[in-house]
Amino acid sequence: MKIEILTLFPQMFENFLNESMIKIAIKQKAITVNVTNIRDFAIDKNKTTDDYPYGGGAGMIMKPEPLYEAIQHVKKKKHIPVIYFTPQGKQLNQEMVNKYSKLKEIILLCGHYKEIDQRIRDLFVTDELSIGDYVLSGGEIPAMVFIDAITRLQEGVLGDIDSAKTDSFQKGMLGCPHYTRPPEFKGLKVPDVLISGNHKKIEEWRKQKALEITKKNRPDLVKDEK
Ligand code: ADE
Repeated sequence: MKIEILTLFPQMFENFLNESMIKIAIKQKAITVNVTNIRDFAIDKNKTTDDYPYGGGAGMIMKPEPLYEAIQHVKKKKHIPVIYFTPQGKQLNQEMVNKYSKLKEIILLCGHYKEIDQRIRDLFVTDELSIGDYVLSGGEIPAMVFIDAITRLQEGVLGDIDSAKTDSFQKGMLGCPHYTRPPEFKGLKVPDVLISGNHKKIEEWRKQKALEITKKNRPDLVKDEK
């Protein structure tokens, strides 16, 4: 998958792209990532990228011209989805992540300040995504959240793809508790069933625990259960 990021703060992505799973995914060529600084496309000598809102009010708006030129520069084909991160967007969930992870090419547009000029949304944006009901100072962190979530589903990135299949939300439920060695830690023991070697019982225990946790923390996900 080819990911183009448009941002005013390219340095925010430097560590993110050079650590852990994302670094491996880039090395394996499961994803290619290109970061473009929107400011490079500013048209005046001061490299201005924001301006006051028409109609007044607080906050600055990202100007359309640099955004237009930056998008034109990276959008080599007509059909490539342009995803814009905004609290006004559709809230991202695992089902959407699964779908996005199958695309071959995407452009991620990160706004900053109050908003971007609406005409850029009208002209280019195909999908508007929010990562939750709270407001961040820009779309960069949401873009990183999105990239992380889709990258771990690319073939060959996770050592064991079953790990992704048993993630929280993959079956509409949260995940179950997990333990590793030692069998006892600070007086707390690993549940006997997990050491029993009985795979059917282990599976049942995991399902039961997942259900308990989901009912407690996300009752909305199990509202159809009796
Ligand atoms: N930009 C600012 N807040 C955001 C959010 N919650 N989701 C996506 N983009 C954002």
